[in-house]
Amino acid sequence: MSKKIIISPSVLACDFGYAADGIKKVADAGAEYLHLDVMDGMFVPNISFGPDFIKSLRPYSPAVFDTHLMIMDPMRYIDAFAAAGSDIITIHLESCDNVAEVLRYIRSKGIKAGIVIKPATPVEALREYLPLIDMILIMSVEPGFGGQSFIPASLDKLREARAMIEASCYDIDLEVDGGVTPANIHEILAAGANVIVAGSAVFRAADPAAAVKQLKGE
Ligand code: DX5
Ligand code: ZN
Repeated sequence: MSKKIIISPSVLACDFGYAADGIKKVADAGAEYLHLDVMDGMFVPNISFGPDFIKSLRPYSPAVFDTHLMIMDPMRYIDAFAAAGSDIITIHLESCDNVAEVLRYIRSKGIKAGIVIKPATPVEALREYLPLIDMILIMSVEPGFGGQSFIPASLDKLREARAMIEASCYDIDLEVDGGVTPANIHEILAAGANVIVAGSAVFRAADPAAAVKQLKGE
């Protein structure tokens, strides 16, 4: 099954003071998703933003709000991130002991559920959750900060995850996050990813709209 390529620009790399303007531009340029990196200073060393920030951005973009929770015990905040306008909520396999329960709860809110693994976590650990998810996210940098370099071994993980999805009976997107640039996107797509997060490559570019088009190959 070949899927459409979706670009999900990460707001983390945007100047927060101009975030409304930035997210409008990238949506107009054809980015169908918007990636929202939530960090709690515990699961990862950095602190970013919470549901109120997401809620305040919601009126400025028609994009699918793709919320990536890098927080401990995410069950505590699913209601808040759902109410803020998330369309997809992705939780880390490493962030709690009740992953299946949280995934079911996300779906019970009428929202898509995703699961994400850090670079050191094997793809095989995802297999038992396939019936409960709409998206797999493979971290291609250590979560916590934008602007890092793509870890080349992530390509093998993408190939393995794509093969696992294709061998299943489920319709699951495969997203990649961290260090994506116009120079490496082709091999990333060839490895099977169909949802591409890009922070610095979009919002640190002189022209974010042009950067989205370039990543889409337009
Ligand atoms: C890192 C975040 C990423 C990050 C990607 O923890 O999950 O979404 O913003 O940024 P770039 O594209 O700059 O690597
Ligand atoms: Zn992310």
